[in-house]
Amino acid sequence: MKDFIAVARDAALQAGRMLRENIHGLREITYKGDINLVTEMDMRSERMIVEMLRVAFPDHGVIAEEETKLSNASGYTWIIDPLDGTTNYAHGYPCFAVSIALKHEDDVILGVVYDPMRDELFAAQKGRGAYLNGQPIKVSEADTLIKSLLATGFPYDRKVSDKNNLYYFYNLLMVSQEIRRDGSAALDLCYVANGRLDGFWELKLKPWDVAAGSLIVNEAGGVVSDLSGKRFDMHTEEILVSNGRIHRQMIEVLQKS
Ligand code: IPD
Ligand code: CA
Ligand code: CA
Repeated sequence: MKDFIAVARDAALQAGRMLRENIHGLREITYKGDINLVTEMDMRSERMIVEMLRVAFPDHGVIAEEETKLSNASGYTWIIDPLDGTTNYAHGYPCFAVSIALKHEDDVILGVVYDPMRDELFAAQKGRGAYLNGQPIKVSEADTLIKSLLATGFPYDRKVSDKNNLYYFYNLLMVSQEIRRDGSAALDLCYVANGRLDGFWELKLKPWDVAAGSLIVNEAGGVVSDLSGKRFDMHTEEILVSNGRIHRQMIEVLQKS
């Protein structure tokens, strides 16, 4: 059997390098909404990754953000965000990633997230721990919100929907050390996994934003749930992750909001 993780890693590295080489080049931008954009590089990255996975695993399904939905009966499905952090990328802001996960039936069994600007490859396989460039990683030890660096993001429909995260943001900002909004949910998750961040939450994310990163957090010893602490489901568009120690405290603040 081909090595799933090796193929996923190669695809993420290759697509990530292509994104890095082109970050300052001219590129075509189209809009999915007034602030939700997509560049030709999202497409090129997706085609490159899908092609590599299809060659290695022709009987696997694929769900990728921009244009690929291939179903099949093998039980294996790849879930891909070819460029997480498109807004950053379009501005030359060096915070974006490629995210690739593999699901078997209902279980995510591997995830890789590659940040080409820092040459950081986060990877995990279910039950086998989480790694950054081959070294094991684990979550932080912060045990109070006031010692915690958190991260979040805001949904693209924030101007027309009340569920825009601003109340949660306000309430957590008042009780934590700081909050970052860096524009790549996949990297936010990995930063919780290796202890750069202590917690992260967001609304209205899609499976390709979180499939790989949530496994990486779990495998690094963190906790992943919905905003009320219930079991995480990547299709419910709500995610709360932390080092575990501050999870309950984050839920209490979120529930007051
Ligand atoms: C976005 C990023 C961002 C998050 C958005 C996502 P995209 O993904 O992960 O951090 O706040 O909600 O949609 O559109 O750049 O792939
Ligand atoms: Ca994304
Ligand atoms: Ca994307």
